[in-house]
Amino acid sequence: MLLTLPDVLNKEELTVVRDLLARGNFIDGKLSAGDEAIRVKNNQELSASDELMAPLNNLVMGKLIKHPVYLAAALPLKIATPFYAKYGKGMTYGNHVDDPVMGPIGQRYRTDLSITVFLNEPEDYEGGELTIQTSFGDQTVKLKAGDAIMYPSGSTHRVAEVTRGERIVAVTWLQSMVRDPARRELLYKLSQARDILIDKPNGNEETELVSNTYINLVRMWADT
Ligand code: NI
Repeated sequence: MLLTLPDVLNKEELTVVRDLLARGNFIDGKLSAGDEAIRVKNNQELSASDELMAPLNNLVMGKLIKHPVYLAAALPLKIATPFYAKYGKGMTYGNHVDDPVMGPIGQRYRTDLSITVFLNEPEDYEGGELTIQTSFGDQTVKLKAGDAIMYPSGSTHRVAEVTRGERIVAVTWLQSMVRDPARRELLYKLSQARDILIDKPNGNEETELVSNTYINLVRMWADT
């Protein structure tokens, strides 16, 4: 399932993030790439040791982990601190799948879902589309600043070459409590039905039935 997370960051927050990133020390993205990705990765990433990481993560992750669509659709167990990537003119990231397991020993997590948060406006650059292969064909994504896309980490994806301007994104990965994507999708749909019922005035029997079923299905399928 590909899902847009709208308005993870608002205009003011985006300005703060971009101002911080403008002062950051960016290094070759190949340094963080796995065996497969290193062949096709050509971008720049904020150095993990940069002192700007903490304020950036507080802002970006602070907003992302409270996003209602993220919570309902990902059912997250562990989420990584993001990479902040820049693609200048001529930069690209060819077809790859993301590494299956990330994190240092003792803090390993399986990557079920990948998230790209768009940090500048689509008009600011040409090219730079994220294309994700799905069973319904290729899906190409270039969202407005502040929005994010969430997609299966195991799906083959690429970033088209930037031909003008600069593409700025934050990318991160998460392990879901529910490993099976089909189960996760069912739970997401049921949670939407539950939200609609809960929003209706006067609680009723179907609200309780749907809500209790949702809660107990999460209990049945979640691993922590
Ligand atoms: Ni990737």
